[in-house]
Amino acid sequence: MSEQDSSKTNSAWGGRFSEQTDAFVEQFTASVEFDQRMYKQDLAGSRAHARMLSKIGVLSKDDLTAILDGLDSVEHEIENGMFDWSVAKEDVHMNIESRLTELVGDAGKRLHTGRSRNDQVATDIRLYLRDNIADIIALIKQLQSGLLDLAEAESDTILPGFTHLQVAQPVSFGHHMMAWFEMLSRDASRFEDCSARMNISPLGAAALAGTSYPIDREMTAKEMGFDAPANNSLDAVSDRDFAIEFCSAAAILLTHMSRMSEEMVLWSSAQFDFIELPDRYCTGSSIMPQKKNPDVPELVRGKTGRVNGHLICLLTLMKSQPLAYNKDNQEDKEPLFDTIDTVTGCLRAFADMVPAIQCKHANMYRAAKQGFSTATDLADYLVRKGVAFRDAHEIVGKAVAYGLETDKDLGDMELAELQQFCEVISKDVFDVLTLEGSVAARNHIGGTAPKQVRAAVKKARKTLKT
Ligand code: ARG
Repeated sequence: MSEQDSSKTNSAWGGRFSEQTDAFVEQFTASVEFDQRMYKQDLAGSRAHARMLSKIGVLSKDDLTAILDGLDSVEHEIENGMFDWSVAKEDVHMNIESRLTELVGDAGKRLHTGRSRNDQVATDIRLYLRDNIADIIALIKQLQSGLLDLAEAESDTILPGFTHLQVAQPVSFGHHMMAWFEMLSRDASRFEDCSARMNISPLGAAALAGTSYPIDREMTAKEMGFDAPANNSLDAVSDRDFAIEFCSAAAILLTHMSRMSEEMVLWSSAQFDFIELPDRYCTGSSIMPQKKNPDVPELVRGKTGRVNGHLICLLTLMKSQPLAYNKDNQEDKEPLFDTIDTVTGCLRAFADMVPAIQCKHANMYRAAKQGFSTATDLADYLVRKGVAFRDAHEIVGKAVAYGLETDKDLGDMELAELQQFCEVISKDVFDVLTLEGSVAARNHIGGTAPKQVRAAVKKARKTLKT
C-alpha cells in the first residue's frame, strides 16, 4: 500500500485495509473514553514488557531507555492534562503507544513485539481491579473500625430486637452494630479471595496462542506484582470471570449495605425515632420545612440496584463466548468501573456517617418495653421452676393476652396478677422481666449480653488489625 493510502487507515492495523473505517464505526468501536482510566496500569505493563524484551535480547538497551523515558513523558502529559486522547486511536493502549512513537520514534514501534492488545487489556484490567479492591477493603475496614467504637460505646443501650418487624426480644444496640460488623467481615474476605484468584499475569498470552519470541513470563509477572503467569494463553486473554466475581462480591456488599440503610431509614423516622443521623448526611425539603431526609442511606439502598444490574450485565456478556478474545469483552469495562465507583462512594459515605449515629436511648428503651419483649424470659423462668417449656409457653401467652386487655407490660404487673397464671411465680420474677435482666441473661458467645458484646468488640479489634 502506498504512503498516501495507508494514511487513510488506522496506523496500528491499517495494512490490509483499503478504505477508512466509517466515522460512526470508529466512534462505535472505540473505548478510549472509558478505558483511559487504566493508563497507569497500561504504562506499568508496558514498562515490564519492555524490560523483559530487553533482557531476552529482543530490544536493544538504547531502545529500552528510549521507551522507558518516553513512557515517563506520556505519564507526565496525561497527569497534567496535556495528553490528546483520540477516538481515532480507539483505546488507551493505542493512544499511549502512538504517542510514545511520536516522542521516541522507531523504538516506540518495537514495544508491541510479542504482545497483543488482548493480553495487554487482560493485564491492565487485573492490575486496575487489584488496586481498587485494595482501596475497597481498606474502606470496609475503616467502616468496621467505626462500628466497633460505636458498638462498645452503646453496648449497654437497649432497643427492641425484631423478627417479622414485630418486637421480639430486647437486644443491645452494640450487638446490633456487631451484626453489621460480621456481614462486612465476610464481604472483605470475599474481596480478598477475588483479588487472590485474579492475581495472575495474562501478559505473554499475546493474541491467544502465545508468541514465538523466547519471552520470560515469570519476569513480567513478578515485576507487576502478580503471583504467577497464567497457565493457559487462551483462557488468559478471554475470561472475565474475575470481573464477574468482583461484581458478585460487590452486589452482596451492597445488599448488606441496603439492609443497614433500611434500618437507618426506619430508625430515623418519627415513628421509630431511635437515632439521629448527622445533619451533614441528610437533606431538607424545598416545601416542607420540618423535614430532615435520610438521603444518603436511601441512595445507598437504591444503588444496590445498579450494582446488581452490572453483575447480570457481565454474566450475560460472558455467557456462550467461544474461546478466545472477542470484542464483546470490551463491554466489561463500564459496568466494572461503575461498580468500583459505586461501591467506593457508598463505603466512603458509610465510613463517616455510620459511626456518627446518635442513639436516642430513652426512645429505644421505651419501644423495647412495648410488645411484651420479655415474654420469652418469663417462659424460661417458669422452665427453671420446673414447668415444661410448652406449658410455660401457654401460660405466658395467657399473661400476654391479659396484658393486652389491661394495657400492661409483663414487668408492670403486680406479683399477684402474674400468679393468677402460675403459682410458681415469685418475687424474683422481676429480675428477668426487666430489659436489663433479659439482655444480661443471654450471656454466651454470640449472645446479646453487654458483657458478651464488649468481648466480641475486643476480639474483633484484634482480627481487624491483622
Ligand atoms: N479495547 C479493547 C478491549 O477493551 C482492547 C483489545 C482489543 N483487541 C482487539 N483485537 N480488537 O477489549
